[in-house]
Amino acid sequence: MTTTPPVFPRRSGALSAAMDLRTKIVITLFAVVTVYAVSDHFVQQNLLSKRFVQLERGEALRDMERITAAIEDQLTQLDQLCLIKASRADARAFVSDAGGSYRETGLDQDTLRTERVDLLYFCAGDGRVIWGAIHDPETGRAATLREFPRQRLSVSHPLLARGRVGGRSAVDGIMSTERGPLLVAARAVLDPVNGQDIRGTLILGRFVADEMMGRIASQTGVPFARWQLDGQALGADEAEVLDDVTASVDPVIRERGDGELHVYTELADIRDQPSMLVRAQVPRDISRMGAATVRYALQSTLAACLILLLVLNKVLGRTILDPLTRLTDHAVAVGASDDLNARLELERADELGVLAREFDRMTERLAVSRSALLRTARAAGMSEIATGVLHNVGNVLNSASVSTAVLGEKARELGAEDLSELAETLGRHADDLASFVAEDPRGVHLRPFIEALAHNLEAVQAGIVAEVDSLNGGLEHIRELIESQQDLAGRGGISERCVLEERVEEALAFSTRAVEAEDDLQIERDYEGLDELLLERHKVVEILINLIQNARQAMAEGEYSPRRLGLRVRRTDERRVRVEISDNGVGISAGDLTRVFALGFTTRPDGHGFGLHSAANAATEMGGSLTVHSDGPGRGATFVLELPAEIERAGVEV
Ligand SMILES: Nc1ncnc2c1ncn2[C@@H]1O[C@H](COP(=O)(O)OP(=O)(O)OP(=O)(O)O)[C@@H](O)[C@H]1O
Ligand SMILES: [Mg+2]
Repeated sequence: MTTTPPVFPRRSGALSAAMDLRTKIVITLFAVVTVYAVSDHFVQQNLLSKRFVQLERGEALRDMERITAAIEDQLTQLDQLCLIKASRADARAFVSDAGGSYRETGLDQDTLRTERVDLLYFCAGDGRVIWGAIHDPETGRAATLREFPRQRLSVSHPLLARGRVGGRSAVDGIMSTERGPLLVAARAVLDPVNGQDIRGTLILGRFVADEMMGRIASQTGVPFARWQLDGQALGADEAEVLDDVTASVDPVIRERGDGELHVYTELADIRDQPSMLVRAQVPRDISRMGAATVRYALQSTLAACLILLLVLNKVLGRTILDPLTRLTDHAVAVGASDDLNARLELERADELGVLAREFDRMTERLAVSRSALLRTARAAGMSEIATGVLHNVGNVLNSASVSTAVLGEKARELGAEDLSELAETLGRHADDLASFVAEDPRGVHLRPFIEALAHNLEAVQAGIVAEVDSLNGGLEHIRELIESQQDLAGRGGISERCVLEERVEEALAFSTRAVEAEDDLQIERDYEGLDELLLERHKVVEILINLIQNARQAMAEGEYSPRRLGLRVRRTDERRVRVEISDNGVGISAGDLTRVFALGFTTRPDGHGFGLHSAANAATEMGGSLTVHSDGPGRGATFVLELPAEIERAGVEV
């Protein structure tokens, strides 16, 4: 499994809203107001309009009552006239002896006109017509009627007054005639002498004709029409409604288009037979008024809703939305510009004012804590740099201290005691030095001894020189490490021409004796043989020392035999080279693969968790990368350092 140090993308603080608050509120208000207007209109349409229709029907029935009352009134008037006329002494005398002055003074066709009646009959007790005349109001001439023969009425005629006992002295009602419905009234004419006995009957009649109908219509204010129910042709509407009217006790109402209500009722004749169909025409003013009222109510509700909507929008805008928009814009601007010194300064006494002031205070506090944080971060950064320097110096010092120990051992191997002993022996035989060297058995070995001593000295000297060189190299590396840190620009690094494989060897040399008990360590080199490159030498060496050191420590932790340290240098492509440091040590679990680069992560008792962190940072600073691969615990690990393969760079001193 391979992994790289994690990268945390910066979050964008941009506010993206599909629909802003103002639109949502306006839509909600609009929906509420529309629902209110529709339901209000529905209620008015269904309740109010029905009430108007009921009212109108009640009014129509009352109109019809007025017409029937007016007809009744006509009958009463006729009856009163009949009573007056029948009670007159000259009328009584006329009926008793059919003579006298009455005929001369009051009975001719003009009498009908002056009395405004259409029929006047004086009959004797036996039905004989004493005097009778009929006037046709349409033609204005004398006329005849089947019901009223000239000579005699049948004794069973319903209008004839009977004897006082058990008979009737007054009758009125409607009669159907061939000339149309006739209002009739009949009164008994009494004996002029005793005023008791019935001598005859006075019958008065008036046709329900145009003139009477016009009077009733203007008196009631209700236009109406009438049909006589003895075969007179009815209109189509009337024929359709007749059965219903006959079956119903109450008047029947029909809607005729939008404009009128027709109310129908039947009037009975004096024989109690259906005689006349009356139709009142009632304009539908009330339901028209109702519809107009509902319409007006709808319009006024809509207008009120619109005004409410506008006012609410304005008020909400002023009190909430505008300041909220200001607050949001300000917050977004602060987020975008990172300017914590910007202040909203919204002078309001309500909750939004409190919110704005709190926001200002918060950004103020944030600015303070950010600068404190910056100071802390700077200090932490400096301490990280210092730790890095110390860590890398420590790595080299390990090697340096081994070098000094080796130097000590070499010094002991110099053989100074042998030289002293030689000098003492030669001193003792200073007088006979020649014979001692030539003859004495100990003097004979003197030359080979001096030769061996010289050889040993040469070997030790060579070792000391090598060790001193290594020590010098280490000290030089430390010096450069410190120098590069003293100059802050040095973190950008100074590149120099060098061979990458040599730097790997240098790093290996610095780390050679860092870990003990590595007798069986096998170093497997696989170098491609790259040309010189422009590299920040010390950074590269630092990284490699860390990687080789870690590899050796990973192999020292368990029984891995033989321990194999792989050093591989390759060109990745035209623009990059890579160094792979592999080992067959403890390996890394999948969970730890990303954590190994974190500052402070370590699994070693004496580790600091700093090496890989600083190595990865250094690789990034050089435009390269550091990645790790491991098949898991116990299966070794491979770290890959990739670097830009630059050969020339303008302006670089080499
Ligand atoms: N080659 C490797 N094989 C297995 N584990 C490794 C290897 N290299 C690093 N690690 C793991 O990564 C950890 C972090 O390494 P790093 O070099 O950052 O710190 P360290 O070696 O523990 O201490 P120091 O900071 O002193 O080097 C190690 O403790 C170890 O667990
Ligand atoms: Mg380490």
